[in-house]
Amino acid sequence: MESKKTVLVSGGAGYIGSHTAVELINAGYEVVIIDNLSNSEESAVEGVRKITGKDVPFEIVDTCDKEALRKVFEKYGFDTVIHFAAYKAVGESMAEPLKYYSNNLVSFMNIVEMMKEFNRPNILFSSSATVYGEADELPVTEDTPRKPATSPYGNTKQMSEDILHDCCRAYEGMYGIALRYFNPIGAHPSALIGELPRGVPNNLVPFVTQTAAGIRECLSVFGNDYDTPDGTCLRDYIDVVDLAKAHVAAVNRMVSDKMEAKYEIFNVGTGNPVSVLELLTTFEKVNNLKLPYKIVDRRPGDVTAVWADTAKANDVLGWKAERTLGETLKSAWEWEKRVRGL
Ligand code: UFG
Repeated sequence: MESKKTVLVSGGAGYIGSHTAVELINAGYEVVIIDNLSNSEESAVEGVRKITGKDVPFEIVDTCDKEALRKVFEKYGFDTVIHFAAYKAVGESMAEPLKYYSNNLVSFMNIVEMMKEFNRPNILFSSSATVYGEADELPVTEDTPRKPATSPYGNTKQMSEDILHDCCRAYEGMYGIALRYFNPIGAHPSALIGELPRGVPNNLVPFVTQTAAGIRECLSVFGNDYDTPDGTCLRDYIDVVDLAKAHVAAVNRMVSDKMEAKYEIFNVGTGNPVSVLELLTTFEKVNNLKLPYKIVDRRPGDVTAVWADTAKANDVLGWKAERTLGETLKSAWEWEKRVRGL
């Protein structure tokens, strides 16, 4: 394995991690996946292997376990890590803040510490548009000031960005990129990997596909009295395969020594605001079905609108979202049908 061409993917059995592993392999990288399977299934790794035809190495490792992580660093040569492994439910983080702080921060600090100890240069971190909160300007650019986080989950994203920034500044030879994801949706066109939420989904699209599959009776639209064209919230829904390709572009930049600063941030979105009702209508249209839904109260903590200015990712990474909302929502439904055997 050539170290520049090898990438460690923590959380690689998860939703975004598994899609990124596929795109890295398609781009000629070797991938090593680690995951503790706390919120994912080994079947996702099987999916990655099936799609790529590669026997991708996989180890069940909890990134909070520093000794286990050290063994991974001893065993595999890689210059780059993409750190996905984290808890991600906003509501749960409000109820169990310590679980979020200890898991998300300890695991990330362990990764950074091992990168330093083993002189491995490149750290790519999964951040989130949640760091912008209710932004004063839209679309948000990477320079739009972050707002104080409204959940422990959001706080761990902000703190991890700061940890990465500080460490890249302090340690010679350490480089970092934070990708701020907007709302990732959809699944791989093969329908072999996709999102596998446990229990009742919190996010819109898994709830939509489960409602279409008859698992949920009715979708609740959280509020139609926002200050937006149709009264429902606006988000920037980014296709998960497009998002995965943004990681490849960021890794390419890191391994070819093209970074202009030791720490860089990129928004990863489409640049298009889409309302909840628009998303539902598009889902119905492209999949030729009707979705039962009702308007209910606002969900506490939801921001009215957030979407990305993608100029920096477009210009600097040479990356652009390609799949249309319709294609993405079709892939989400194909995946749900496959999982449910419909
Ligand atoms: N929504 C509904 N009904 C549902 C679920 C969601 O109407 O059953 C609405 C929400 O009110 C919101 C939109 O659909 O307007 C999107 O909600 P999601 O829960 O899918 O996504 P969020 O924008 O709330 O959160 C997502 C990620 C977070 C991340 C955040 C960053 O899930 O991890 O984006 O903005 F922090």
